[in-house]
Amino acid sequence: MAFSRVALHKVGIMDQIDLRTRMERVLYSEDAISERVRKLAEQISDDYRSRGHAADRKGRPLLIVGILRGALVFMADLAREMTIPVEYDLISVSSYGNGTAPGAVRLVKDLERPIEGRDVLVVEDIIDTGYTIEYLRRNLESRDPASLRVCTLVDKAARREIQTQVDYVGFALAEDAFIVGYGMDYAELYRNLPFIGVLKQEYIG
Ligand code: PRP
Repeated sequence: MAFSRVALHKVGIMDQIDLRTRMERVLYSEDAISERVRKLAEQISDDYRSRGHAADRKGRPLLIVGILRGALVFMADLAREMTIPVEYDLISVSSYGNGTAPGAVRLVKDLERPIEGRDVLVVEDIIDTGYTIEYLRRNLESRDPASLRVCTLVDKAARREIQTQVDYVGFALAEDAFIVGYGMDYAELYRNLPFIGVLKQEYIG
């Protein structure tokens, strides 16, 4: 159906922008991501299958905890490639602004259900300084899960400011590039790009 004059008038400038043109380069293509996600899912499925969910004595499925909002895309793809039964839950945290202790993190949205006695896999899109995941690890561990592991698609280990254990890594990124796409944003944009790209410097700031 054709747009009416009025509707066309309402189309914002943002709708005209192709965000792909703002990439300096593609770092991980759609194909590279899907291949890596498939392998990770296989490895995770094999690991938990071989444990026979021994840790969860009630035999409940692995609980995947996604960290809003960046991990949503990765979590959805990873879970669909996994070959063991899983359940989902979501949690949201936020960094405190300037003027607080470096790395201070607060809980914005908690899990819907208790995790005591459950096998839990926390899924992140990226681990950078490590403050977010370390806060979550401590917070979730205090709830007494049977096991707690962490999976991140991208690990920027060189940027780490606090030690934290990461059990599964999709891509180890050595360079300090500003990356977006596949769930990752800059000022809330770019999350729906199907690849991970390096944002041109002129669009940062
Ligand atoms: C990003 C990312 C991680 C965190 C990693 O989240 O999703 O949760 O930063 O950084 P850190 O290791 O330095 O703590 P962000 O706060 O940008 O929110 P988002 O998930 O909504 O994009």
